[in-house]
Amino acid sequence: MTEFRTGLGWDTHRLVAGRLLILGGVRVASEVGLEGHSDADVLAHAITDAILGAAALGDIGMHFPDSDPRWAGSDSLQFLRHAQDLAAAEGLQVVNVDATVVLERPKLKDYRPAIREKLARTLGLELERVSVKFKTAERVGPVGEGRSAEAQAVVTLRKGT
Ligand code: C5P
Ligand code: MG
Repeated sequence: MTEFRTGLGWDTHRLVAGRLLILGGVRVASEVGLEGHSDADVLAHAITDAILGAAALGDIGMHFPDSDPRWAGSDSLQFLRHAQDLAAAEGLQVVNVDATVVLERPKLKDYRPAIREKLARTLGLELERVSVKFKTAERVGPVGEGRSAEAQAVVTLRKGT
């Protein structure tokens, strides 16, 4: 019997000068970047939490505490792969990923192919199973004022064939 599990992920990071803006493992040209212990890849973090959520395996901070020097400056794609490995150990395979990045600027749509490819390659999925969308916050609130970015993700996992 085939069973499906759905997971939800959300994350936010501040935007600050002197940091790189990395989204889905792709470096985006920007005067400000995301602040955090790791590379602060808000999109990778949201997808990681969605995978962990679908498998009921806790959350990203439980597996990769930001107090642990091992994860300082980390490439967050390794969190994503690790979450996928943990789910696989429970017999759960990723079916598809859908995510939204909320960022006022820069425009991200030209980066969509690169981000989808990077995520698909990281997760060993066909491109058509990975969707990434972008939204502004219409200049409202911390995201709209350019002080932070957010990402949301939904992941479906399949158990069985
Ligand atoms: O937020 P809003 O609806 O105005 O966004 C319109 C479009 O602009 C989105 O559908 C998306 O394709 C694009 N966009 C973008 N980069 C952003 C925000 C939005 O490419 N940072
Ligand atoms: Mg994060």
